Amino acid sequence: MRSHDDRQKERRELNPQEMLETIFETIASISKEKEIDRILMLMADLGRELICADRCTIWLLSDDKATLWTKVAHGISAITIPSDSGVVGHAIADNAPIIINDAYADERFNPSVDLQTGYVTRSIIALPIYGGEGEIIGVYQAINKMTDEAVFSDDDLKRLKLAAIYSGATLETAITNKEIEDTQKDVIFTMGEAGEMRSKETGNHVKRVAEYSYILALSCGLSKADAELLRMASPMHDIGKIAIPDAILKKPAKLDEAEFEIMKTHAETGYQILKNSHRRILKAAAIVAYEHHEKYNGRGYPQGLRGEDIHIFGRITALADVFDALGSDRVYKKAWELEKILALFKEEKGAHFDPALVDAFFRALDDLLDIRNRFVDGAH
Ligand code: C2E
Ligand code: SIN
Ligand code: SIN
Ligand code: FE
Ligand code: FE
Repeated sequence: MRSHDDRQKERRELNPQEMLETIFETIASISKEKEIDRILMLMADLGRELICADRCTIWLLSDDKATLWTKVAHGISAITIPSDSGVVGHAIADNAPIIINDAYADERFNPSVDLQTGYVTRSIIALPIYGGEGEIIGVYQAINKMTDEAVFSDDDLKRLKLAAIYSGATLETAITNKEIEDTQKDVIFTMGEAGEMRSKETGNHVKRVAEYSYILALSCGLSKADAELLRMASPMHDIGKIAIPDAILKKPAKLDEAEFEIMKTHAETGYQILKNSHRRILKAAAIVAYEHHEKYNGRGYPQGLRGEDIHIFGRITALADVFDALGSDRVYKKAWELEKILALFKEEKGAHFDPALVDAFFRALDDLLDIRNRFVDGAH
């Protein structure tokens, strides 16, 4: 039974010329994309256009292969389903495409997604998507043929296969890149925490400095991408402390001059550890480690850089780091009251800190304090 509503949405098949144009145009956009979500959306649009389906969903197989998930699909938001259920699950188990033109009469169909979304599925195509080594990475699913005949054909399957083959490689690259980047983030974060742990500062210090840096970066006008990069890199600012002897690092009192000279080497040491990497995040981390104790007036260390000669990442992390250090207990000092901290930032505007950044700091203060409350340290 087709409702009046459906008939209004009725569409005609693309002619071969239109089909080629649609494929070439979309594949060109897909191959330029790096964001998984965007690729999935473009693939869904392509599938829907090519075979006159009402909805199209690209399901991705989870790492452990137990579930399929999709973040973007026509008509649904984020959904996870077991990878052995429904038509999609059968396509994986059989390692073969499936066409069904009367879903509710087919026992392979699982109506639970319909029940969640209130949608009525009649016809379905499900087609495995393969990675470079022939392994299944997901499923291309189209629902409800919108032409007069209202049934999916083998021709539709062929077209969807074409779309899957041409977009599958881009999709796989994007997935792999995301995995690499996630791994890098983990490693960097863990190394940053290791550096902090020795100096008995709780792990939340690196988390807070990361978030403060991100907020300050956005507040002073850096792009979202640069702000994200700094958020990933700034947890490494003190990695060089791993080379500082405990007697100095954990001294519960003021350092004498000689001790402070040794302490100061942590900036250069951090830079030496990181500088040879060609990875984007580690390069940024090297800059941050090297320059987070430089001062705007040129009186910082290790290089005594001045003003804008200090990389913006270094200037931002300097502020984030001191804001956090002053607000936290250290082995050698108690946390300061907020008022005293804010007074210091006003006083050091143009001296220790970039004046534009101090302005950005005060503009973003509410958000910064939010982070401070969210990532409080364990009881001291
Ligand atoms: P940290 O404790 O995380 O401090 C980071 C930065 O915050 C310091 O860089 C400094 O700019 C600022 N800061 C922290 N506490 C105070 C404070 O009480 N007053 C003021 N005016 N600023 C403060 P700085 O000075 O280059 O020190 C680098 C690191 O050297 C410190 O990191 C800490 O690990 C160590 N350190 C510095 N002074 C002492 C000390 O007297 N005793 C011990 N045990 N360690 C110290
Ligand atoms: C199924 O694969 O059986 C259900 C999929 C859906 O309706 O989205
Ligand atoms: C910190 O633990 O963040 C402060 C140390 C430093 O910046 O040298
Ligand atoms: Fe430091
Ligand atoms: Fe720090």
